[in-house]
Amino acid sequence: MLAGKRILLIVGGGIAAFKSLDLIRRLRERGATVTPVLTRSAEEFVTPLSTSALAGQKVYRDLFDLTDEAEMGHIELSRAADLVVVAPATADLMGKMAGGLANDLASTLLMATDKRVLIAPAMNVRMWEHPATQRNLATLHGDGILTVGPDVGDMACGEHGPGRMSEPLEIVAAAEAALADGPLKGKHVLVTSGPTHEPIDPVRYIANRSSGAQGTAIARSLAALGADVTFVTGPADVAPPLGVKVVAVQTAREMKEAVDAALPADAAVFAAAVADWRVENASGSKMKKDGSGNAPALSFAENPDILAGVSQMTAGRPKLVVGFAAETDDVEANATAKRARKGCDWIVANDVSPETGIMGGSENAVTIISDAGADVWPRLNKEQVAMKIAAKIAEALA
Ligand SMILES: Cc1cc2nc3c(=O)[nH]c(=O)nc-3n(C[C@H](O)[C@H](O)[C@H](O)COP(=O)(O)O)c2cc1C
Repeated sequence: MLAGKRILLIVGGGIAAFKSLDLIRRLRERGATVTPVLTRSAEEFVTPLSTSALAGQKVYRDLFDLTDEAEMGHIELSRAADLVVVAPATADLMGKMAGGLANDLASTLLMATDKRVLIAPAMNVRMWEHPATQRNLATLHGDGILTVGPDVGDMACGEHGPGRMSEPLEIVAAAEAALADGPLKGKHVLVTSGPTHEPIDPVRYIANRSSGAQGTAIARSLAALGADVTFVTGPADVAPPLGVKVVAVQTAREMKEAVDAALPADAAVFAAAVADWRVENASGSKMKKDGSGNAPALSFAENPDILAGVSQMTAGRPKLVVGFAAETDDVEANATAKRARKGCDWIVANDVSPETGIMGGSENAVTIISDAGADVWPRLNKEQVAMKIAAKIAEALA
C-alpha cells in the first residue's frame, strides 16, 4: 500500500527520535520514498548524516537555507508528499501546530501543507497529561490531524504511563490507513451527538451534561475510514470534526427532523444525549417572578424516541443501528434491556456516575452489547474508543 508513496517525515526533538531511523527503514522497505525534516532539537538526538543515509535522501533542516529554497521551496516541499508524518511529535510541535505557529521549517511545512498529517506523539507522561497538551490534541483532532499512540509503558525518563511513541510498525500501519481509501468509502453513516436543549422560555432551557466529545470523535474516526458522515449535533462543548456534513440542532424534535432528512444511511450511530422530555408549557416570552413566592409549575411531554424510531423502521432501515446507554447503575443489565426495547443492533453502554468522570471527561469505559453478548472494553480515551467503534462498524458493513 505504500509502494510509490512519498512521505515527508518530520522528526521532532525527543528521545524517541532514534526510533524514527527505524521508521524510515520500515517505510522504505514497503516502497515509500521518505524525505526527512529534522527540527533543530531533533539534531540533538539523531544526526543529519544517519537520517540522510537511511532515507537515501537529502535532509531538510532550515527554513532560511538559500540552496534549499532555490531548489525546492518550503511550500513545494510541504505539498510534494502524499502524507506528512511527524514522529516523534513533541509537546512543543503539537503546541505549535495547534496554535498555528510557523517559526521554523517543521512548523511552517505543517502550516503550508495541503496533505493529510499523521502525528506520533512522544513525551514524558506528565507532559502528555498536561491540560495544555490535551487541549492541543483536541484542537488537532478537530483540525483533522490523525494520531497514532502514544503507547503506555516504561519511558526513557524512568516514569511509567502514556507517552511512549508507538512502535515503527504501528506508525507504518497508521500511515497505510491514512493513505488508503478506507474501508468505509462509499458508505453513508449518520451520527448524532451532544445534548439537546429543551426551552422553558426564550432564555432558559433544560439540558444535560453531555459534551459531545464521544460522538464527535466517532464521527471523525468514521470519516477517517472513508465514510461519508452526516453529523447531527445538539449544542455541544466541542467543535464538530472537519470533513463531515454538520447539521446543528437545539431540541430533540429538531434532531429527529434532521435524522429523518439525513436517511437513508448504511449505519446510524445515536451518540447524542437526547432529552427524554420537553417542557410542554414552555412560555413564548421570558417568565418573570412576581414576588408572590409562587414558582411556575413546569409540565413535561415525552420527546420522540429517535433511536427506537429508526431501529424499528420497516423500510429503509440502516443496516446497522447503534444506540448509546448512559447508565449510573446496573450498566450491563439496563443496557441489555434498552437494546431489546429499542430494537437497535448494538448498544454502547457506559457508566456515567459522577465518580467515573466520564460525562464531560476525556476517557470512556464502554461495554458493547450486541447479539454476541457483552464485550467489555478497558478504559480508554474517547478517541481510542471512537477508533475501535469505527473499525467495528467497518467490519459490520463490509
Ligand atoms: C534529553 C531530552 C529528552 C527530551 N525528550 C522529549 C520528548 O520525548 N518529548 C517532548 O515533547 N520533548 C522532549 N524534550 C524537550 C524538547 O526537546 C524541547 O521541547 C524542544 O524545544 C522540542 O523542539 P522541537 O519540537 O522543535 O523538536 C526533551 C529534552 C531533552 C533535553
